[in-house]
Amino acid sequence: MSDDVRALLRRTAELAADFLESLDDRPVFPRASAEELREALGGPLPDEPTAPEEVVEGLVAAADQGIVAMPSGRYFGFVIGGSLPAALAADWLTSAWDQNAGLYVGGPSASVVEEVAREWVCDLLGLPGDASLGLVTGSQMGSVTALAAARFRVLERAGWDVGRDGLSGAPRVRVLVGAQRHVTIDRALRLLGLGAPAVVHADEQGRLDAEALQKALTEGDGPTIVCAQAGEVNTGAFDPFDEIADAVADHGAWLHVDGAFGLWAAASPSLRHLVRGAGRADSWITDTHKWLNVPYDSALVLCADPEAHRAAMTISASYLIQDDTVRDQVDWVPEFSRRARGFAVYAALRSLGRSGLAELVERTCACARRFADGIVELDGVELVNEVVLNQVLFRFENDARTDEVLRAVQEAGDVWMSGTTWNGRRAIRVSVSNWQTNDDEIDLALESFRTASQSPAHAPAR
Ligand SMILES: Cc1ncc(COP(=O)(O)O)c(C=O)c1O
Repeated sequence: MSDDVRALLRRTAELAADFLESLDDRPVFPRASAEELREALGGPLPDEPTAPEEVVEGLVAAADQGIVAMPSGRYFGFVIGGSLPAALAADWLTSAWDQNAGLYVGGPSASVVEEVAREWVCDLLGLPGDASLGLVTGSQMGSVTALAAARFRVLERAGWDVGRDGLSGAPRVRVLVGAQRHVTIDRALRLLGLGAPAVVHADEQGRLDAEALQKALTEGDGPTIVCAQAGEVNTGAFDPFDEIADAVADHGAWLHVDGAFGLWAAASPSLRHLVRGAGRADSWITDTHKWLNVPYDSALVLCADPEAHRAAMTISASYLIQDDTVRDQVDWVPEFSRRARGFAVYAALRSLGRSGLAELVERTCACARRFADGIVELDGVELVNEVVLNQVLFRFENDARTDEVLRAVQEAGDVWMSGTTWNGRRAIRVSVSNWQTNDDEIDLALESFRTASQSPAHAPAR
């Protein structure tokens, strides 16, 4: 390697560290407009090459104004998480190593870390020890993968080979979902040619109603898939998995669990009860780029039916070198060439250990409760959800004031969270999923809401 490359990587590490240090102070949401960013980053494609240092320095200078402080402990938007130091460092190495982690032969260590991560994750999440694992880009592709396995198996039981004969002329596959399933389930079904699902009633917290599911299952027949959820994206609510698993078993259906963030409750002895029965499902997805605090993009899909999982995904060609005695990742994911995502997941799990992961999950949930306890002290605030996990949902007296106070908090720049509509009314959602969030960040968020809600511009009309 030339001295120039070493100097470039050193300088880049400095710039990255400068950014991480700036997280303590910088406004969480950038103020540059899209036009300003186009101006800073755009211009005609240069005819001549540019020196790498100049490219990197220029990129940092121009992009900085549009970088959201998502890895900060003051970011409470969506369900994001940050990057644990070990996971971030392993992710850098992943780029430097540049393995093509589609086949074992494309990077043996990349394949073996996935095997190790599979064992650790099954153990931590209370899933069957022989469940198969794929490391995908996000829960979206996790559900595509799991539901492809489900489609294969339920049609195979109905005497139909979907891999060979496709869906034309196949028995119709019924898919039942709760009213508050995540939108990525609908897109997964659409991509798989399964169409729109039948929607089953969910309660005011977003929990699928197991009795309504039982009734819906009885009213139809044929190949059936049920999608349940661990952690509703607004409320954090969990479906009643044991009752759902009983109903599904009575009907020979496939049960898929979307646990994009909620499945990690299983890693905490005090929160594990929330996912009771989830281990009885046929497939699960969960993100590592959310609560496990691995850099984007990274998620897990697990399947209790490895044969169906593999049948839905596997691929072979004469020029590939495949070997049944080792893990070829193409057997478990929809990608062919792919990034060696396992290194960062492995590093995150190894650096936290069992106790560190439990502490991370429990601390962030305790932070969510602290926020909920504090926010209801403000005039006009109504807590909308039961704070069972790391999500808090609340609103002010009316939609206009909810949106106004939220906008004022966002503009103040100390913390950032987003709005939503829940049961027909505007609400503010707070997600605590960053490894750096502690009581100080929660108190700062509460102070920001106190200031915004009491300022004359946003005070309630008397
Ligand atoms: C419950 C749930 N499912 C699925 C997803 C989609 O995850 P991803 O963005 O990783 O595809 C999310 C994202 O917030 C989620 O909360």
